[in-house]
This record gives sequence, structure tokens and C-alpha cells, in this order.
Amino acid sequence: MSHISVLLDETISFLEVKDNGVYLDATCGRGGHTEAIVKKLSTGKVIVFDLDVVAIEEAKKRLAPYLDKLIFVHDNYASLKKHCEDYGIQQLDGFVFDLGVSSPQFDDPSRGFSYRYDTPLDMRMDQNQPFSAYHLVNEYPLDRLTKVIRDYGEDPFAYPIAKRIIAARMSAPITTTGQLVDIIKSALPSRILHQKGHPAKQTFQAIRIEVNQELASVEKAVSDACALLKVGCRGCVITFHSLEDRIVKDIFKQLSTPPKTNRRLPQQIIDIQYQLINKKPLTPSEEELTQNPRSHSAKLRVIERIRGTMYGNDQESQENQTV
Ligand SMILES: C[S@@+](CC[C@H](N)C(=O)[O-])C[C@H]1O[C@@H](n2cnc3c(N)ncnc32)[C@H](O)[C@@H]1O
Repeated sequence: MSHISVLLDETISFLEVKDNGVYLDATCGRGGHTEAIVKKLSTGKVIVFDLDVVAIEEAKKRLAPYLDKLIFVHDNYASLKKHCEDYGIQQLDGFVFDLGVSSPQFDDPSRGFSYRYDTPLDMRMDQNQPFSAYHLVNEYPLDRLTKVIRDYGEDPFAYPIAKRIIAARMSAPITTTGQLVDIIKSALPSRILHQKGHPAKQTFQAIRIEVNQELASVEKAVSDACALLKVGCRGCVITFHSLEDRIVKDIFKQLSTPPKTNRRLPQQIIDIQYQLINKKPLTPSEEELTQNPRSHSAKLRVIERIRGTMYGNDQESQENQTV
């Protein structure tokens, strides 16, 4: 099973990879972005994260010629700060987040991510995590289920869908994606069922986001990665739906906008530490969309650190970085 890396050339070109640099790929997947970075390194390193143990194993095979330049971490990217510290990485020359689910995760029926197959309800990115879609669908109370489907699926039929799920599980647990699809369909009006796109798409997205706590992890990890960037270096984030894109947009905006000051108080000079490289996110070209239709909702946002703080991000500490 393979994965076509999205916005690959654009991301690598924004990163302006230095051969002795230290990079973070927060979402290894099949290692496409990692490979494009590591190929450009001589003495540099890439620290690579994934929650999915299969992704890490497959990427290790693909990246076998470069293993001496790679640090693999099987953990949530939300803990990247701690792992970077453990490996003596104080600053980064660049980072990439290519968020969401990989094609192999969607295309492996046993992972239970897709409404296209009838398989056990799962949707865990991390196979060691006990909590899965099965637990969410069979244990969440009505109000919590409705909120998940409304907030993360942006589905106007969240309440009727949640009510049908609760009713269905009274007789027996809901165990498969096929059962869940039928329940969702039974809650939707026929005009929605006949619209373009799968009727279970939004609910499946919502459940997947909740099971993997995707949004909370993104917020923490992207903020931490930005804090680790060296001056003159860039971070790239590729998002695939509006909820995660909004989080990234807000973090980048906050970092690159001067705080409002009180005009009545003596004015201070405020140095903004970051700037946006592209005011509007970059989207895939027509050519990429034709070759990889799954890239259709991708958006790439890029930020650059333009100044350090007085506390350890100054030029001296950058030069003293250890790896
Ligand atoms: C879109 S894929 C990355 C594909 C990769 N850039 C490539 O070119 O092959 C996203 C990957 O991020 C991983 N992932 C998602 N959320 C994560 C998290 N919170 N921590 C670590 N990895 C995560 C998924 O398991 C998946 O393998």
C-alpha cells in the first residue's frame, strides 16, 4: 500500500533545506516528505514522528539508506518538545506537518477508517491505544455524541444521527463500519442521501478526529514546533479540513501579528518573531489534482521565524545546538 505525498515539491522548496540542518517531520506516514528532506542532508538529521507503528516500520524500510540521519519516534507529535529535548535538539532548521490520515490507513480495511468497507469499527492511528471508534459509538451519551458529530463533522444532522446510534445500540453493540453507515443513512432525509459525496463522510470524519484527539494535538504540536524554529527557518503545515486549517491559521496569525497596545501608555517597540510566507494557503496544482485526487482539500501554510527571543533563541545558542 502506498501514499502519494501531497504538495511535496512546494513544501521542500519552502523549507530551503540546509545539508547540516536539523528538521522535524511530525507526520512520517510512508516517509515521502522525510525522504525528500533527508536526501538533501550531509551531516543533518530529521526527527520523525508517527502514532502508527506500521507507518514507522514501512518508512524505515523505504528510508533504509538514510537511517543514520533519522530519529524515529513512535508517539504523538503533541509530545515533540519532550522528545526533542531528550535527543538534545534545542532548535529546528525547519518542520513539516502533513496532517490527517494516510492512504494506507484509509485503504487497509482492517483499520476501520473507511465507510467504503464493512469492517470492525476501529479508526485508531495508534494501534496501542485502548480507546477506539467502537468505544465511542457504543459508550458516548447522546449529548456528547451529538457534539462530536456537530463540531468535528460539521453535520447539521448530528442530533438525529446520534439519536439513531443510541437507539440502535440498545438492542446490541454496533460493531462494524457497515452497521454504522446504515444507521447514519437511516437518520438522513432522502434529499441528503442523493447528494454528491458519501452520506457517512462527515460522521466518520468526526469520530476519527475524536478517537485520535486530532485537533488538541495539532494545536499543541504546531505551537511547540514554531517555538523551536531557528531564526531564518521555516515551518510548513498541510491541512485537509477546515477545522485543522483554522487552528493552524490562528496560531500563525497570532505569532505574526503585533499585539494590540494601549495608545495612552508609553509606546514600546514590539518585535514580531514570525512572518507568514504565504498570506493565502497554497493548494495543489491542476496537475497534482489529476494525479492524486485525494490532495483536493489540501492547504499548505508556511511560517518563518524572523527574530529570536532573549531567552535562548539568540544567535549564540543557535550555534551551540547539539544533536
Ligand atoms: C498524511 S499522512 C503523512 C504522509 C507523509 N507525509 C508521506 O509523505 O508519506 C499523516 C500521518 O500522520 C500520522 N499522525 C496523525 N496524527 C498524529 C499524531 N497526533 N502524532 C503522530 N502522528 C500522527 C498518521 O498516522 C499518518 O501516518
